[in-house]
Amino acid sequence: MSELAGVYLAAHTPRYCTRAAAFEGMLAHPDFGPLRDGLVEQGHHLRARKPDVIVINSCHLVSTFSTLVDGTARHRGTLTAQEAPDLIAGVEFDFPGDRDLASALVARGKSEGHLCGLVDDVHYPLDYGTVMPLVCYLDPAQSIPVVPISVTLMNDLEECFRWGRYIVRTLRESGRRGAFVASGALSHRLVRGPEKWPLPEDRERDARFASLLALGEYEAAREWLPEFADAVSAEMGGRHLAMMVGVLEEAGFAFDATVHAYGPSSGSGNYAISFAPSDSMIL
Ligand SMILES: [Fe+2]
Repeated sequence: MSELAGVYLAAHTPRYCTRAAAFEGMLAHPDFGPLRDGLVEQGHHLRARKPDVIVINSCHLVSTFSTLVDGTARHRGTLTAQEAPDLIAGVEFDFPGDRDLASALVARGKSEGHLCGLVDDVHYPLDYGTVMPLVCYLDPAQSIPVVPISVTLMNDLEECFRWGRYIVRTLRESGRRGAFVASGALSHRLVRGPEKWPLPEDRERDARFASLLALGEYEAAREWLPEFADAVSAEMGGRHLAMMVGVLEEAGFAFDATVHAYGPSSGSGNYAISFAPSDSMIL
């Protein structure tokens, strides 16, 4: 059985990741509907595969120098999003962590020469890019252990890619079946106006990158990523995408990709894509 239950590219923008959007389907603009529905489908996809743990890399869990892996035993708090308190306010969350897996991942990163550290602090604040996709779509029951890992500003894309490899190797050695989630947009040339789509040329580039992933062309995606991320002003420089490609490549087998949807938010381009090992059985 594979160490990966699935790999997920998820959206987190507040237009989609509010309780109202997730549970009542209340969206401010009809263009938001398909991606919201795609995120619902993505949640079904993940839960059907019953992962032991979710490792999530959110573009809003930002560190500067050191890659941080949150191994807090219980992630519990009340989230009001710093950027969007009008949309995400007072969201209570309470889900388990996995200190052993987080510790093993940090140990591996250190042994490979990276600056990194373990977080073990009930006061460590989680961001909306981590919390909201989980509680709204991926695991509303909040029963699956979660290990958040930071987007690290000093890491170039190659380092992020290597961290993706480490995640798979660490899962493999742990005996756990994990789900990896990259929480972030592709093109990210933000403008005022929530319903605004990316520029046509950026939409075309987003579609090309997604199609490389869907076709299993992970090496081609990795090689194009620096140019792509620069051209579309990708969220966090595409670091979350690099980590995800590292996960997909390190797995060493084919995935069946489901492109659930693509949608806009304030000029950004957001996909919901799920990858399941081709030979996986839904248990
Ligand atoms: Fe974001």
